[in-house]
Amino acid sequence: MIYGERVRLRAIEREDIPRFVRWFNDPEVRRYLTSYEPMSHAKEERWFEEHLARTNDIILAIEVREGNEWVHIGNIGLHRIDWKNRTATLGIVIGERGYWGRGYGTDAVRTMLRYAFDELGLNRVELETFSFNPRAIRCYEKAGFVREGVRRRALYRDGRYHDVIIMGILRSEFSSGPAEGAPGTKGEG
Ligand SMILES: CC(C)(COP(=O)(O)OP(=O)(O)OC[C@H]1O[C@@H](n2cnc3c(N)ncnc32)[C@H](O)[C@@H]1OP(=O)(O)O)[C@@H](O)C(=O)NCCC(=O)NCCS
Repeated sequence: MIYGERVRLRAIEREDIPRFVRWFNDPEVRRYLTSYEPMSHAKEERWFEEHLARTNDIILAIEVREGNEWVHIGNIGLHRIDWKNRTATLGIVIGERGYWGRGYGTDAVRTMLRYAFDELGLNRVELETFSFNPRAIRCYEKAGFVREGVRRRALYRDGRYHDVIIMGILRSEFSSGPAEGAPGTKGEG
């Protein structure tokens, strides 16, 4: 279990699969993701099995506290972890739309970055997001990502082409909160 300020991250389980299928079949969620096909239960199960075998992908469930319960609202992952260059690609989805815009995404991203830099020893985390997703761009900026470039007209969606924004954060730029400036604070390298 990895605890953030408002979220906790846990391993995903086979029992979570029906929720993934529901989220990825919600057009309002899927339009912000790379995947574009309706998702079947069978496909999602195969993806889960493949995920168990991979060592360069970490995918965690995002949970928030509701009374005495922890509710699973989405997933966050570090993908294509490159152990030589110490880089990874971040992906996040809050599939329960009622939880958008309440700060959980930013907390989940910060928590995952802390894990990436302070536990896994990564040096750089990058991501791509679509130009029509200002909520995601703002969320990443709040967590410390900077815009690094644009893949012009790289995405075809809803009948037209859109730019894809490349963002990244280095370990030396990441501040995990109160520890900033304290002895032992992360340096480049
Ligand atoms: C993107 C996502 C992870 C962000 O998580 P979240 O919990 O909704 O985001 P947060 O509440 O932490 O932060 C969102 C910020 O965007 C701002 N925002 C929301 N809509 C906006 C808009 N249309 N224009 C500009 N800013 C916007 C919010 O005001 C907030 O900023 P603030 O705290 O300065 O006010 C989540 O919305 C999500 O999963 N969306 C669907 C899938 C997706 O887009 N995944 C990312 C693919 S790259």
